Amino acid sequence: MTAQAEEIVCDCNRLTRADIARAIAAGARRPTEVYEGCGRAAQCGRCLDVIRAMLAAARR
Ligand code: FES
Repeated sequence: MTAQAEEIVCDCNRLTRADIARAIAAGARRPTEVYEGCGRAAQCGRCLDVIRAMLAAARR
């Protein structure tokens, strides 16, 4: 796994880019579904911009 994949995107839930990418690959289409797919829930929301950007990139 690359260093970028291991980067913690969501500090509250300790979610890495790889965790989020897995949730998107499994069908998550909204941030709420990404958290759910990781067995977590949104907390502070500071990670939303990155999660939204990853969702948008996956739609391209
Ligand atoms: S950093 Fe993701 S909910 Fe706080």
